This record gives sequence, C-alpha cells and structure tokens, in this order.
Amino acid sequence: MTEQDFVLKSYKPSVEKGSVKWSSPSNIALVKYWGKKKNQIPENPSISFTLNDCKTVTELSFTLKNEDKISFDIYFEGERSESFRPKIETFFERIAPYVPFIKSYHFKIETTNTFPHSSGIASSASGMSALAMCIMSLEKQLIPEMTDAYFNRKASFLARLGSGSACRSIEGDLVVWGTHKNVEKSSDLYGVKLEQELHDVFKDYQDTILLVDEGEKQVSSTVGHNLMHGHPFAAQRFKQAHSNLDELLNILKTGELDKFIAIVESEALTLHAMMMTSAPYYILMKPNTLKIINTIWEFRAKTGSKVCFTLDAGANVHVLYPKSEKAKVYEFIKTQLVAYCQNGAYICDAVGLGAKQLH
Ligand code: PMV
Repeated sequence: MTEQDFVLKSYKPSVEKGSVKWSSPSNIALVKYWGKKKNQIPENPSISFTLNDCKTVTELSFTLKNEDKISFDIYFEGERSESFRPKIETFFERIAPYVPFIKSYHFKIETTNTFPHSSGIASSASGMSALAMCIMSLEKQLIPEMTDAYFNRKASFLARLGSGSACRSIEGDLVVWGTHKNVEKSSDLYGVKLEQELHDVFKDYQDTILLVDEGEKQVSSTVGHNLMHGHPFAAQRFKQAHSNLDELLNILKTGELDKFIAIVESEALTLHAMMMTSAPYYILMKPNTLKIINTIWEFRAKTGSKVCFTLDAGANVHVLYPKSEKAKVYEFIKTQLVAYCQNGAYICDAVGLGAKQLH
C-alpha cells in the first residue's frame, strides 16, 4: 500500500456527535528503530513485542462544528492538560491530509495511563496509538464499509505520524515495522503483525520493567534519531538491523533462547552505543542500569536461566524471560534487582495482543 491509499477521498461528516474509547498498549522493541528519514520513515526495520498491561486509555468525544479548523481540549488523568497540547496539535496537523474530517469536529480528548506518568516509560507509543484508533473509529462511522484490515493498517499509519514506534502498538503479539525482504507485506509506512509461525515460548513472554530513573530524559528520542544523520556508524548499523531481524525471524520459529538473548541484548547495547558515539555524544544509562545488566549476566551464568534484558531510549531495564521461569526470575528480581530501582519501583508486564475498543 502507498500513502495515497490512506487519503480519504470522499466522505460526508454525517455524524453529529458521539464518543469512542480505546485502550492501546506500549511495546518493547527487540530489534531497534533508531534513525529516521522525514515523517517517521525508519532507516531500518524493527520488531517488537506488544505489551499487555502498560496502556493508555483514551476517550474521544466529538461534536460537529461549522469552522474548518483543528480544535480540541485535552484532559490527562482527569485534569485539563496544556502540556500535551503542542504534541497533539502537531499530530492532528500531520494526519489531517489523510483524515480531513478531523477539521469539521471539536474534540474532547480524555486520556489516562495505567503506568505512573513519572515512571520514565514513554507513553508516546500507547498514547499516539490509542488516539489513532479513536480517530479511525470516527472514520469508520463515516465510512461503515471499511474493512478491519484497512482500519488497523491506517491506524498504524496515523500512529506512526505521531510517534514512529507507536505504529507497532495496534496489534500483537509481534509487530514488524519497516521494509524487510523476508517479512511479507512489511512496510515503512505502518507496522504489520508477524504472521509466520511463532514458537510457544514467545506467546506469553514476560517483561518486568525496572524503573531505574523516573526523571525526564536528558536527550529526547527525536534528537537522538536526528543524530543518526551523518553518524560514523549509521550505514553499518542499519545493515546490522536487517540481518539481526533476519536471524530473529528464524529464532522466533525455533525457540532457541540462547540465540534470542544474544540478539536482543546486542540490539539494546548497540542502541546505546549509537548514542555514545554520536556528535554530540551522550549516555542515557545510569550506574544502576549497568549494575542490573551485570547482575542478570551473573545470575544467568550461575543458574542457566534464560532471563535477559533490553533497553529503550532511557535508563530503565526491561527484563525479559519465558513464563516457565516466572517464579524463579521474580524471586531473583525481588531479592537482587529491585534495590537498583528508584523507590523500588517496577512493573510486571507480558506479551499482549494490541489495542482494544472499550466503546
Ligand atoms: O518512537 P520514538 O521516536 O520514540 O523512538 C523510539 C525508539 C526506541 O524506543 C529507542 C526503539 C524502538 O524501536 O522502539
């Protein structure tokens, strides 16, 4: 599909008013997206586990108006929020060419997260995907004959325009975003659910997120992506993501966990290595991030556990493990890792199936 397939050509804003509500999860990349072209077109393909419990719940109420211009109020956790306004304004402006009806409505956006706002967990993936699903629900009311496949594809396309990785939050359990020669129908424009055979071990993989640093990041993802332009290792990194994804596709079928660990941990460290070798260079990991990584390595060496880690663009650590090891790893986390979390905070999550309509 091309961008043109997402342009709404003829419609009538025939619905006067109403409201829709969606919950949409966060996701954690196994092969990382880092570096982009214009409009959140990724420099390399990525793949992620959709999460289950770290979610944004968004209700979108809409009222038809006369003026043809973007208009909305936003409430975060029950309070009117001005701090989210610029991000949503930009999002609406970017998606308007594809969903021109948004200019005919006044919106009330009420949004909450299931995880603490200050946790350092990026809410942009869950937030932008939840809002994209709400907008698509309104489009569906205007164009009822729309198929579910088109609905999801366009929602992912819109979410991408808000925040790149948000396009991987619409469906589950694994989603690929970015064209890759061995993933059928993969696209730079939207995420696609991985349709190949998936080994049972990955269907309920666990992710415990250790909150190492609840503060605001020193360098935003937007700045980080941009620093990949002219980065001395960029070309090699983009190539590596293709081959890591290729290998991972096979591992996801066979369930070879040692190989899974090797790719996932290398991807996490490579992401941070890109940050440390950009100009200007920076470090988002904290001393406790490294303590956790080393403790995981020691535990694995001692016990033969298949627990491993990944990181996103921050200091928090995602601890990944098979469900069969849940009791053992949970005990390990509580006794050996929680001490490195800010205020002892962590979140237990697992692989999930994507966004859900609440009404
Ligand atoms: O979606 P963005 O622009 O916030 O970028 C997120 C990038 C990483 O989380 C670091 C990696 C990824 O693929 O999710």
